[in-house]
Amino acid sequence: MSYSHSIKRLVVIASVLSCTQILSACATAHDTAYTPGLGELMTQISARHLKLWYAGSSENWELADYELEEMHETLEDLAKYHPTHKKIAGSVPAIIASFMTPFITQMEVAVKNQDKGAFQSSYDNLTTACNSCHKANNYGFNILERPRANPFANQSFRGKL
Ligand code: HEC
Repeated sequence: MSYSHSIKRLVVIASVLSCTQILSACATAHDTAYTPGLGELMTQISARHLKLWYAGSSENWELADYELEEMHETLEDLAKYHPTHKKIAGSVPAIIASFMTPFITQMEVAVKNQDKGAFQSSYDNLTTACNSCHKANNYGFNILERPRANPFANQSFRGKL
């Protein structure tokens, strides 16, 4: 075997080895893929819940619709990533479907009809539903309510510029 031939072989072997290493790195990255924790998802849900209040109260119905949809999606993520969870008794998708979905639907109707009165009562119902799940799972001390102040001072809830 000529010298240059064996160099070529070495190069081939080296690149096969590095490809294998890259592949195994990919596999490892996949195995440890990021899953948002329950507390993180709740914090996101809570921010949407708050923004929903300011959007609806300002009658910015487009934004209210958006925040409601985002909150709904995050609740679906909760059901997807944590179908069961040590801190929650029972099936999370089933709880979401029975505790939350009816009130989200009610809120969707209020927002679609641009009905501020219905928005406010739907908001209270939705909030009671949040609190029911907390209460049912030993988190009764964690109480949601209509926001009293807006920490997102950099966002206008009034709508179009
Ligand atoms: C399926 C039951 C369930 C539902 C429904 C639910 N929560 Fe929670 N929530 C929990 C549990 C359990 C915790 C405690 C999480 C932890 O300790 O990691 C929690 C924690 C929280 C926290 C505390 C996060 C923190 O770090 O301070 C907030 C805020 C919150 N939820 C808001 C909401 C809002 C708003 C809704 C309704 C739109 C809601 N939750 C609906 C079960 C639920």
